Amino acid sequence: MTQPLYDLPACLPSGVVEDQDNINRFTGFINAFAHAGLNLPGGALYFADGVMAFFRQTGFLGNQDFTAAVDKHALSVTERTTIWRAHTSVWAAKSCAGLDGDFVEFGTHLGTTPLVINDCLPGIFSARTLWLYDLFEADEQYFGDLPEDAFAFVQRRLAGINARIIKGALPDSFLDSGPERIAFAHLDVTHAQIERELLAAFLDRVVPGGIILFGNYGHCLAPYRDIQSAIDSVLGQYAVLELPTGQGLFVKR
Ligand SMILES: C[S@@+](CC[C@H](N)C(=O)[O-])C[C@H]1O[C@@H](n2cnc3c(N)ncnc32)[C@H](O)[C@@H]1O
Repeated sequence: MTQPLYDLPACLPSGVVEDQDNINRFTGFINAFAHAGLNLPGGALYFADGVMAFFRQTGFLGNQDFTAAVDKHALSVTERTTIWRAHTSVWAAKSCAGLDGDFVEFGTHLGTTPLVINDCLPGIFSARTLWLYDLFEADEQYFGDLPEDAFAFVQRRLAGINARIIKGALPDSFLDSGPERIAFAHLDVTHAQIERELLAAFLDRVVPGGIILFGNYGHCLAPYRDIQSAIDSVLGQYAVLELPTGQGLFVKR
């Protein structure tokens, strides 16, 4: 990787960030581990995107095709520091490659995750359609920079991929269109109520063995904190695996 993989302000609660003594202590702690391998495969400490893990393989950091894809396509520090989440997405896409069904991303933002998947799994989208849904404009929860015409920007970025890019408010934009059979769905719109309605609408279309990856199942701060209970209320007795990345993983049986 060409830039640091962690971003202190993004990783620490605001009360900690504002106290310079705390920052200095924390930075010293992190730097001490940097000598023994920080954010390296088989290193002493992985620290990024709210995840702190000691003595883990983090083998994905040693996969140069994968790290090159993230380096190439990430448009922000956030998209770089969420590299473990990107690894989960690539794994899920690969796991569903043999299934009969399309791939869907609810909440596409600027299209970085499908681009990373496409680089890591060349040809994955030639055998199926990738359906991408987003407002492609700022909503009340959005706090980053968007290109002036985000929709056209994403269309240009994904021009080489067999994708149907649908601009509009979910869940209606999905109910108006959408694949009949879904092998892999990435549900990542960050609104509990919308995710509940969407999941109820598309769950029956997920084929047996298909995977749903929930982008913010495990995050406990606003605006994410109600997402887990919203998803569980739809899935009933089925179980979601909460991941340290904040994602949730569900395999349809
Ligand atoms: C966390 S971002 C998605 C990140 C993206 N999946 C990735 O991996 O890079 C959440 C996205 O959901 C979109 N969104 C929020 N509410 C929406 C709605 N009602 N309909 C469509 N998109 C929505 C936002 O515009 C934003 O781009």
